[in-house]
Amino acid sequence: MKILSGNSNKHLSEKISKYLKNRLVNSSIRKFADGEIYIEINENIRGNSIFLIQSISSPANDNLMELLLCIDALKRSSAKNITAVIPYFGYARQDRKVAPRTSISAKLVSNLITKAGADRIVTVDLHAGQIQGFFDIPVDNLFATPIFTRHIKRKIKNKNLICVAPDVGGVERARALGRKLNAELAIIDKRRSAPGKSLVMNVIGNVKGKICIIVDDLIDSGGTIVNATEALKKRGAKEVHVYVTHGVLSGDAVEKIKKSKIKNLVVTDTINISDRVKKVRNIEILSISNLLAEAIKRISNSTSVSDLFK
Ligand code: R5P
Repeated sequence: MKILSGNSNKHLSEKISKYLKNRLVNSSIRKFADGEIYIEINENIRGNSIFLIQSISSPANDNLMELLLCIDALKRSSAKNITAVIPYFGYARQDRKVAPRTSISAKLVSNLITKAGADRIVTVDLHAGQIQGFFDIPVDNLFATPIFTRHIKRKIKNKNLICVAPDVGGVERARALGRKLNAELAIIDKRRSAPGKSLVMNVIGNVKGKICIIVDDLIDSGGTIVNATEALKKRGAKEVHVYVTHGVLSGDAVEKIKKSKIKNLVVTDTINISDRVKKVRNIEILSISNLLAEAIKRISNSTSVSDLFK
């Protein structure tokens, strides 16, 4: 078994490689003057099972293309099989036609990855679980919930907790966390007028005097989480803590979080987080590396991955 890293999140790949005591494959990923990506694998990988680690994070188009070209290079170098480990599966939000004449990017990206030659996908907290069905190859969708549960139990002593789904799509995720924490569930009725613009219409559930735990798959512009926090505070929430798997954090998201009433925002490192963000008072990073490394080990040994979540 060998591990190859793309450029999107070298830091995470190095941690995984350290955990598995298996060094990263020697490769060169360069760009031509016009921006085209050029991949070269500098060692023999014939007959090896390869785990290629690459998130489809910003710059999403470059990172996606790099992922596809790496798979192609591995296939053409006679790898025995290729597992695309995609900690953050970008382009997943467009998973259905939300209006006439729109595309379904999640399906197109799934087709591209399969066509390039991947034999299996490992990812974390897919935007919607049913995206697994866009692939005709095995998909292991890992969850950050156990990492969040341990952190909440260690850090938040007040037991008057309520888990909050910031929109209807997040209900299953919030309910799963609520079960582990023995906490109630509240749901925010969110509407979007345009991508990146969200509006809270209503809060379903009583949050008065409670410690609210908002859980979501990703934070992009920060609008969803900051608006949800405002709405919860207005309805008497004591504290708002936020747990999000993928810290996309685009535009002025970090500034919004700094200024908000969020007590603590916890994100994982499925996307590389800059040192500037790491220094923000109310943002904390938890690593997903051991979970991914353990999943890779189990896939490689053909043992159960779902046992990781029992
Ligand atoms: C939406 O369905 C997602 O789960 C996130 O809530 C959303 O994409 C976050 O975006 P933003 O931070 O831009 O509001």
